[in-house]
Amino acid sequence: MTRYADLNPPARLLMGPGPINADPRVLRAMATPLIGQFDPSMTGLMNETMALYRGVFKTANKWTMLIDGTARAGIEAAMVSLIEPGDKVLIPVFGRFGHLKAEIARRCDAEVITVEREWGTVFPLDEIRDLVKKHRPRLLALCQGDTSTTMLQPLAGVGAVAHEFDALFYTDTTASLGGNTLETDAWEVDCVSAGLQKCLAGPSGSAPITLSPRAEAAIGRRRHIEQGIATAADVPGNGARIRSNYFDLAMIMDYWGDKRLNHHTEATSMLYAARECAKILVEEGVDTAVERHRVAGGAMADGLKAMGLKLFGDQTSRMNNVVGIYIPAEVQGDAVRKSMLDDFAIEIGTSFGPLHGKIWRIGTMGYNARKDAVLTTLVALESALAMHGAKIATGKAVPAALAAFRAGESRTAKAAE
Ligand SMILES: Cc1ncc(COP(=O)(O)O)c(C=O)c1O
Repeated sequence: MTRYADLNPPARLLMGPGPINADPRVLRAMATPLIGQFDPSMTGLMNETMALYRGVFKTANKWTMLIDGTARAGIEAAMVSLIEPGDKVLIPVFGRFGHLKAEIARRCDAEVITVEREWGTVFPLDEIRDLVKKHRPRLLALCQGDTSTTMLQPLAGVGAVAHEFDALFYTDTTASLGGNTLETDAWEVDCVSAGLQKCLAGPSGSAPITLSPRAEAAIGRRRHIEQGIATAADVPGNGARIRSNYFDLAMIMDYWGDKRLNHHTEATSMLYAARECAKILVEEGVDTAVERHRVAGGAMADGLKAMGLKLFGDQTSRMNNVVGIYIPAEVQGDAVRKSMLDDFAIEIGTSFGPLHGKIWRIGTMGYNARKDAVLTTLVALESALAMHGAKIATGKAVPAALAAFRAGESRTAKAAE
């Protein structure tokens, strides 16, 4: 019989664009014993999870729940449930994850209109308004933070533009939620989805989602309860049947809501994880967590600049939690990343598509948006680059990062006065 070793992955500091090291509290929550999915304790935990995520998303939306699966499951659930075949869907693209949304929308048989900008930039609000006015989509879908380019699309005003032209507005905040400001209700966002493995400090595998009353109404028209569960009193909606059973948000609402209609078997350990992620964030204060990410991400960027590295993209639109740097011409990018992993046990990110081989992406997010994680990464990168013959300034990165942390601390102290 083949004998397999005990599970013992190497210790790593995960400083890429996500996943990152989960908060130990989340890992402990995942080891909590299982209970049945309709146990009153379990449904109580589901209700608590809904309430906690209302705080995280800054919304009063009743339908704030979890989709079982990675962040992409949240995107698929949103799109397959909001898009009826033939609907026009407008997707302004500023990185890889815009293309992902277009790909998913095409699988929903939408008429997809994409408009792509140069990677490293974002869309001004008036350009989005012009696009919505011209194309009159049923759904406007936009990434908030696109980790592939490290850019953060400003979303204030976008919901109002969508509603002015009778469109629904969906945003993917997988990479940004918890580390960058999101005001779901104030910004009139109809659907927001996310994942746990970035600023929420958890593992991937659960996708928090929230739906506005407008989105609820659009999905409700398409409610078709599964045979074997539906009763004579359940009249199907007159909209097209949602083309996925697993991601049918109407049925998922009936499962999370008072009806508690059986759908999937809730992934209990992931629910524990997602609940703990939200609890940690709400206890810290969502705005405080955003500020922590801003300070840690800024300190990382300042340290990298002090080393003489060039940052990628429009820095006024950068996400708080991930920064791109051009790989110095003198070094082989993958060899430096290998040294970082083999010698220092630190993971930093490569990049996709047109940026592959040109930039690295370094994240400071969730549990790792901490001073020690930032300084350790800077010291290791400086050493690895020097070993590989890069022409960098040594001894400057840590003081620059520390100065940014001190400035952040004094800003926080002043604000508290
Ligand atoms: C903005 C964005 N959307 C979607 C995803 C896909 O998430 P997952 O791999 O959890 O499905 C990612 C992953 O990095 C992301 O950054």
